[in-house]
Amino acid sequence: MLELKDIYFSIEKNDEEVHLIDDASLKINPGHFMAIVGPSGCGKTTLLKLIAGLNVESKGNLYWNGRDLSEEGDLEPSEIGYVPQFSIAYELLTVEESVRSAIRLRVRGQGRAAFHDLLEKVLEDTGLTAIRGRPVRVLSGGQRRRLSLALELVTNPVLLLCDEVTSGLDPKSEQEVVKLLHQLSRDAGRIVINVTHSLANLDLYDSVLVLHEGKVVYHGQPRALEHYFSVTIAEDIYPRLAKRESSDWAQSWKKHRANYYEALDSAAQAVPQTAAVPQDGTITLSSAMPGFFVQFMTLLIRRWKLFLRDGGQLFLQIAILIGFPVLVVIFALDGIEPIKSLSESIAANPIEEANQQAEIFKNHLKTGGLISGLIMFQVILLTLMASNNSAREIAGERQIYEKERFGGLNPLSYLASKVAFLGFLVLVQSVWMAIFVQNICHLPTEDFGMHLALLLAVNAAMTAICLGISAMSKTAEQSSLLSVYLVGFQLPLSGAVLALPNYVEWITRPFISAYWAWSGGVSSLDSRTLSAVDNVVDTSLQASWLCLLVLCIHFAVGMFVAYVGVKKNRCL
Ligand SMILES: Nc1ncnc2c1ncn2[C@@H]1O[C@H](COP(=O)(O)OP(=O)(O)OP(=O)(O)O)[C@@H](O)[C@H]1O
Ligand SMILES: [Mg+2]
Repeated sequence: MLELKDIYFSIEKNDEEVHLIDDASLKINPGHFMAIVGPSGCGKTTLLKLIAGLNVESKGNLYWNGRDLSEEGDLEPSEIGYVPQFSIAYELLTVEESVRSAIRLRVRGQGRAAFHDLLEKVLEDTGLTAIRGRPVRVLSGGQRRRLSLALELVTNPVLLLCDEVTSGLDPKSEQEVVKLLHQLSRDAGRIVINVTHSLANLDLYDSVLVLHEGKVVYHGQPRALEHYFSVTIAEDIYPRLAKRESSDWAQSWKKHRANYYEALDSAAQAVPQTAAVPQDGTITLSSAMPGFFVQFMTLLIRRWKLFLRDGGQLFLQIAILIGFPVLVVIFALDGIEPIKSLSESIAANPIEEANQQAEIFKNHLKTGGLISGLIMFQVILLTLMASNNSAREIAGERQIYEKERFGGLNPLSYLASKVAFLGFLVLVQSVWMAIFVQNICHLPTEDFGMHLALLLAVNAAMTAICLGISAMSKTAEQSSLLSVYLVGFQLPLSGAVLALPNYVEWITRPFISAYWAWSGGVSSLDSRTLSAVDNVVDTSLQASWLCLLVLCIHFAVGMFVAYVGVKKNRCL
């Protein structure tokens, strides 16, 4: 049995305490199907989130089978199914793939046969078997709601909480979904609570709870509603509510509620816990979640699937992977010969030698500028790739992530799957950029390994920082914008093109990854080329190992921010 006793949920508004939920008390027996109805903004979602444990009550107690949830901890993630108002699933997966990945993420230790049985049962119970191969993006509103329910049913939850799963549906689909919820409440003593605006199909519920301005003003059988509110049709209840103060309504209900709950108690005693006993065909599951590695692999495989199915994203990645190194080479084409022959010939006489020296010096300057520019160009294009890699990675799927986290997903498995996926992109992009440019331009580097490591490090560092931004941002748009600004500022603030005023340089330099990658890259050039670059840039250069170290620190900071971001609670 679920019981709420004198529950308040309050917020501070203009230094005043406002009760969004005001002294709510109710009881629900196992195997019960309840509707929460009420005008928009009356607190239905807030109440549902309190029951789910997503909102923490300011006062009062919640009990589950006599256990005080406020003191002894919430229900296990596998015991609750929470279906939010908007369908949340990956558009590019099929119905079956979505359910499969929900099972892998939320149900522990499934052998092949048990996995298959569970998959089939969930698809069948939600009427999705016939459309199991269909991609989510082509599903109708009603089918999406059924999929949302299927994703919750994989753990066979004892409490299923649904927020407006019927809103926006045509009357027939609405009735189908309500019938399905009714059916699900008859399964293994499951309590199903459905928040709804709609006053249609109320006869399918075992009880209806009416909320008005955060207060419970009725909870009882649907057929008694019209009588209680003295209306002829249920649709007249909302206008009727507005005619009296909510506190009056609540007061009236308090006088009646004891009768209703006494009747409920006797009904529960007459059928002692029968509904709570699993019936034939019901699959009983362990409440433990799958381990780190299973969740990590499930997420990684799913990420690759989504990546390979997203034509636009795939095309963009391939285009920049091939296009950016080619762009670097195109800019270097004219200067490749001087780079290759940055040598000094010996002239026969002093005048000729002086002329040659001047010519060589001029060439040195030109070549130095070109090589510095080439390295910076490589670095900047890699930072651009980095922001494209990860700016939307977490922010773009935050709702799905929050939903899965509420369902028991370990944030570390999630972050590790991102690192593995992005790590592969970073590796391919950086190695290809370094080798392609080197093979054509023959940069006179003394240590190509260091040059490669710096390119890898700057890409990894910026990818991690943009991942951090993505994890902290509210929306994908905000995250993309911030990441683009971050990349945009790399070039001017690196000092590689125009020297910065000293005081600006010292403030900004530690944070500019591009400066460290460029500076380290230049420092790994052979000594003659290095002096040529030194002649054309005013900015001081640092040792390559120091640059690599700073980039590793940038990477670590980015990862730390990403970790904090994925641990942070965002509204579901
Ligand atoms: N965390 C919060 N901080 C401040 N106000 C909040 C918070 N959560 C909810 N509210 C406010 O509380 C009121 C009730 O919100 P709630 O979302 O529960 O309404 P609802 O009955 O579900 O409405 P609807 O039918 O439109 O979905 C609203 O006025 C909302 O703005
Ligand atoms: Mg709501």
